[in-house]
Amino acid sequence: MAILAVTGSASGMGAASAAALAADGHTVIGVDLRDADIIADLGTAEGREKAAGEILARCGGRLDGVAAIAGVGPNLPDAAAVLSINYFGPVRLLELLRPALAASDAGRAVVIGSNSATTVPLIDDGLVELALAGEEEAARERARTAAAAMPDELRAMAPSISAYASSKFALARWVRRTAVTPAWARRGVLLNAIAPGAVLTPLMLGSTGQAGDPDAFPTPMPLGVFGEPEDIAFWVRQFLRPEARFTTGAILYVDGGTDAAMRPDAQPTAMTF
Ligand code: NAI
Repeated sequence: MAILAVTGSASGMGAASAAALAADGHTVIGVDLRDADIIADLGTAEGREKAAGEILARCGGRLDGVAAIAGVGPNLPDAAAVLSINYFGPVRLLELLRPALAASDAGRAVVIGSNSATTVPLIDDGLVELALAGEEEAARERARTAAAAMPDELRAMAPSISAYASSKFALARWVRRTAVTPAWARRGVLLNAIAPGAVLTPLMLGSTGQAGDPDAFPTPMPLGVFGEPEDIAFWVRQFLRPEARFTTGAILYVDGGTDAAMRPDAQPTAMTF
C-alpha cells in the first residue's frame, strides 16, 4: 500500500480524495489549515516548508504520491493570496517533495487546476509569466494592482477572478512544462492536472449553500448536473495509481462538458511550422 499526501484534506475534493484513498488501504497524510494530520498554510513559504518537512518525516523520505488539492476561489478579496495559495502552494510543495517521490517505485503527483483557466476571458499574461518565472513577490504585487483596477461591478461579484483564473492557467502550464523534464519524467515521477468545472463543495456553494439550477449557471453545463467532490476524487485516485504509468503532462477536464461546450475546437491544436 502507498503513502500519499493530500492537501486540502479537510474539505470538498481534498476530503473526498483522502477518504477514497484511505478506503483503498493507503496511508494518507492530510495537510490543511485545520482538521488535518499536518496544519500548515500553503499560501506562505514557511507553511510550505513546514508541510514538506512534516510529510518527509512521516513518510521517511519515500513518498508514493501527492494530490495537491488545497485552494481558494475567486471570491477571496486578496488577489495576492489567491495567487500564492493556488499557484505557489502546489508548485513549491511539489518541488520540495519531488526527491521523495523519485525515491518511490512509482511516484505520482496530481494537481487541481480549473476550467476557469480556459473559460474565463480574464487571463493576465504578465501575471502568468511572473508566476512561471517563480517571482512570487512581483506576481503578488501585480495581482493586487490588477484587482484594484478592475471595474467595480466585476470586483463586487468576484474580486479575485482574474488572479484566480490566471493562477490556474499558470498551474496548468507549469504542469505541462515540468512533467516532461528529466528531473520528473526520467525519475519516474508522473505529474498531471485535473481541471474541474462547477463542483458542489463549500468553495462553490459559498455562504448561501445553494447551487441553483445547472441550466441557469453562467457557463454551459452540458450534462445538466453539477459535479460532486467524489467525481474529482475518482480521477485523483486514477492518477495516483502505479498502473497509470504512461500519462504525464496531461490536463484532464472533469467539468461536465463545460470547456468542450465553450471551446469545442480549441483542441486539438495543429502543429505549425
Ligand atoms: P473547499 O473549500 O471545499 O476545500 C479547499 C480546502 O483547501 C479547504 O479545506 C481549505 O481549508 C484548504 N485550504 C485553503 N487555503 C489553504 C491554505 N492556504 N493552506 C492549506 N490549505 C488551504 O474547496 P474545493 O472546491 O474542494 O477546492 C479544491 C480545489 O479545487 C481548489 O484548488 C479549487 O480552486 C479547485 N476548484 C474548485 C472548483 C469548484 O467548483 N468547487 C472548480 C474548479 C477548481
